[in-house]
Amino acid sequence: MKRTLLMVVPLGLALAAAIGACGPGGGGGQASLIELAQSRGLSPDDAARAIKTFVAPGGRDEYMLFASGGHSGQVHVIGVPSMRLLKSIAVFTPEPWQGYGYGADWSEEALDGPAPGRPGAGAARGTGGDLRWGDSHHPALSETDGKYDGRWLYINDRAHGRIGFVDLADFRTKQVLQVPNLQTSHGGIFATPDTKYVHISSKVPALKGWNASRGQSVSLDDHLNRYPDIYRGYSTFIAVDQKSGRMDVAKSFQIELPPYTQDLADSGKGVSYGYAFINSYNAEMATGGIQQGRPPLEVGASQLDFDFLHIINWQKAEQVVAAGKFTELNGIRVITLETAIAEGLLHLAPEPRSPHGVDIAPKGDYITVSGKLDPHATVYGFDRILKAIADKNYEGTDRYGIPILKFDAVVAGKVELGAGPLHTQYDNTGHAYTSLYLESAVAKWTLGEPYHPAANAFKLVDKVSIHYNIGHLATTHGDTMEPQGKYLIAMNKWSIDRHSNVGPLHPQNFQLIDISGPKMELLADMPIGFGEPHYAQLVKADTIKAHAVYPPGVSPATMEKSPNAIASEKDARIVRRPGVVEVWMNVVRSHFTPDIVTAKVGDTVIIHLTNTEQTADATHGFAVPTKNVMVSLDPGESTTVRFVADTPGTYSFYCTEFCSALHLEMQGWLIVEK
Ligand code: CUA
Repeated sequence: MKRTLLMVVPLGLALAAAIGACGPGGGGGQASLIELAQSRGLSPDDAARAIKTFVAPGGRDEYMLFASGGHSGQVHVIGVPSMRLLKSIAVFTPEPWQGYGYGADWSEEALDGPAPGRPGAGAARGTGGDLRWGDSHHPALSETDGKYDGRWLYINDRAHGRIGFVDLADFRTKQVLQVPNLQTSHGGIFATPDTKYVHISSKVPALKGWNASRGQSVSLDDHLNRYPDIYRGYSTFIAVDQKSGRMDVAKSFQIELPPYTQDLADSGKGVSYGYAFINSYNAEMATGGIQQGRPPLEVGASQLDFDFLHIINWQKAEQVVAAGKFTELNGIRVITLETAIAEGLLHLAPEPRSPHGVDIAPKGDYITVSGKLDPHATVYGFDRILKAIADKNYEGTDRYGIPILKFDAVVAGKVELGAGPLHTQYDNTGHAYTSLYLESAVAKWTLGEPYHPAANAFKLVDKVSIHYNIGHLATTHGDTMEPQGKYLIAMNKWSIDRHSNVGPLHPQNFQLIDISGPKMELLADMPIGFGEPHYAQLVKADTIKAHAVYPPGVSPATMEKSPNAIASEKDARIVRRPGVVEVWMNVVRSHFTPDIVTAKVGDTVIIHLTNTEQTADATHGFAVPTKNVMVSLDPGESTTVRFVADTPGTYSFYCTEFCSALHLEMQGWLIVEK
């Protein structure tokens, strides 16, 4: 028997529906809500979902989701609960709308590192080529007092051990840093609760001393037989400049780790502030080599019953570095494994084999670890960890001499959740939510005291089906000290039959889930038509306070007034010197000044463009045919482009944004004479 809409819609709406509410346009023809729902084939539950997620024209979403774009190399900003895409931010990959990697100085610097002679020059280089691709994986929003502060976002490149820095004042990427001694990274990125550091750890260990620019000699025999000696992982604390948000390698440090494959990581907070937790797999140090008679990696890396949770006291590491007990390796201060052990800043704890997420509870007291091959979540107590360290309650050391804390001494409890638990996030009522990859579900369970005084144990309380193959999940502020509950986003790797057929490459699928009640409820699907999104952070939209326009003449590279900014077209000018034509160009609706630039073949053309408008959304573009130059100039922005006039002819540069009624006339000529 089909329920009627009246049974689920609130009374006011139901009444309105019953009398046949009309649209704002009035007049006949507008069906009642019931008729509308029926005509679209919506069940009463569907209609309720629509109302829960709908944002009226001109309205705003309450939350913003910052989702990694995977191998698109981007970050996607999505409104929640409407699940509408608001913006794609280019990080590791060129993107033409914003002009990222198409001539704008700020973007070239971000992608390639500061130009020679500028502060920080060389720091971001060293990857052995002009990389124009990356696999954006785990976004980390900046925090103050353990809460999102809306200032900055950091995201790692899975493929290269790099971190991209996005300034949320203008939603643009300002820096891409190749972290020394790392070749790859995965989920080991987080901001400390005060954003003093951004942490990143290696994923697959790299050759000790690895440097992409100069390479390193090695043989197959070395790889197969000397793996434990020649490979190393690193836990890296990248110092953040508190004014600009930029990363500074000179003030950063690393801790050398064994060549287990370090994976996800999370920051201590509250009672565990000053600690970092990293899980790992492949304690076996399997090398691969199917044709060399070795087991495939997934078999070789699953021999032992336990892998190792790494527990790092980074405040102690800071003191060790300050005391000069470090070596410098590829331009960064490194605490060696021997020193880390001697100073007692690194401990291991057994964790069920092939663990995935390691997620710290809001007060910093519990550490949830999920083993992909174990149906339980294992919850470690931070107080137990501290006690075991103080009591030297070890079950031994690993082959490198790192003390291993006794499993029973540090585990506060276990909870059976289902098949393939991966990642955990939290809410504001003492619950944890864990993704179940194999089961395609989300499990909701209670944290014990002090979160849930009614429950003295970790207990499964609800489960919802996911379509399909959930990886990460994000709850509102769910990895901070102040989670908000309300919504959960399931980030699903497969969509199979959920969306229209667009060929064998299916969109992936985000699912919005209402977690405000005792039962989780699926509200909406969002097809994701770009590279594999991996992890996301869900933040109250009003936490973000971006500029509506840049203050006059601001350079996105420095976020300060550019020395090359001009105030109006009266200041526009062309200056020539041998081999160079330098232009200060004013950009305003609907002309460029100057609108004719002449150069000789072979000249370097440098154009300082200033959009002298202060009207919100009065963005212009600047594109030059055949020169691979395409930049967006937002109101107030001052940006420099440079290229070589290598071929004679005339080139009609133009504005790429439909900025005014006379947008088509907003063009000019570059005349290159022989
Ligand atoms: Cu400026 Cu179109």
